[in-house]
Amino acid sequence: MQIEKLREVLLKRVETSDSPREVLRAAELRDLYAEIPKLPSDQRKDFGQQINKLKNDLEEKIVKRENAAASAKVEPIDITAPFDINSSKPELLPATDGTVHPLSREIQIISDIFARMGFDVVESRQLDDDYHMFTSLNFPPNHPARDNFDTFWTEDGFVAPAHTSTMQNRILKANKKKLEEGGQIAGVSIGRVFRNEDIDATHEHTFYQHEGIFVSRDATLGQMLGVLRSFFETYYAQKLRVRTQPSYFPFVEPGLEFAIEKPAALGGAGKGGEWLEMLGCGMIHPNVLKEAGIDPTKYRGFAWGGGVERLVMLKYNIEDLRHFESGKLAFLRKFR
Ligand code: DAH
Repeated sequence: MQIEKLREVLLKRVETSDSPREVLRAAELRDLYAEIPKLPSDQRKDFGQQINKLKNDLEEKIVKRENAAASAKVEPIDITAPFDINSSKPELLPATDGTVHPLSREIQIISDIFARMGFDVVESRQLDDDYHMFTSLNFPPNHPARDNFDTFWTEDGFVAPAHTSTMQNRILKANKKKLEEGGQIAGVSIGRVFRNEDIDATHEHTFYQHEGIFVSRDATLGQMLGVLRSFFETYYAQKLRVRTQPSYFPFVEPGLEFAIEKPAALGGAGKGGEWLEMLGCGMIHPNVLKEAGIDPTKYRGFAWGGGVERLVMLKYNIEDLRHFESGKLAFLRKFR
């Protein structure tokens, strides 16, 4: 009986006290245990069990209250907030003010310029195989030039393409019928490429390239220079001085680097009057045509490939390549 009453009192106290664990400490259950030996032997067991049960019940209630107190201290989280809304003032663009990413917009402009010249534009792949990335482009296995295109491989042997040239063989194969019908192949591929690079203001592991490929019975280097000059002058909306210098890429012969003289009016890298290398280009190597099933004694072509960011940086006076992939609103807002 005595225990029943005590139980009621203690449970109530635990429920209402500010420090429930103190209730248990103060309850002096020890005194109750001390009574056990005084009881008739047939009652001892029952009495002992009752004290144990009381102790356990109190303990359970205390833990419950302690847990409730702990979770009440955690501040409520707004799971719909885009970031820690409590500690910083959110800097969000109003939904109606969204913008196309500057690279997407410029890629559209670049595509349009080439499309108006008669090139079919396709998107480049973001995962490819060794054949398209290297072998079809006249890089034999173990060729040292492969090292210039160090990139990322998946465990099952696929490659994150290091250049948009990875599309050349596909464009040639898909369009070679046009040659047999007396026409020409004119394709551009634009897309993301990946390099195993140390990152700085002018190097990224992920960037974009534009790539052109043209094949006909009588394509010439002069035509190529005309196409490229025309493209750059349209993109920068002004006359430009251009020059080339010899370079080496396994998939062209001769291979060239194409540079423009930086117009004083443009910002970005370099001073006015400086020569800026914009892309690699050349006459398509006979082995590349052969690999696509095109007879190099009947047809010839030219190709080029170069970075998109470099073009855009010059146009908008952007000093750091890393801005593009940073997702920084302060940067993106300039292109509204
Ligand atoms: N793929 C080369 C690179 O990423 C650029 C290039 C050079 C592309 C010459 C071409 C070419 O089509 O003909 O560095």
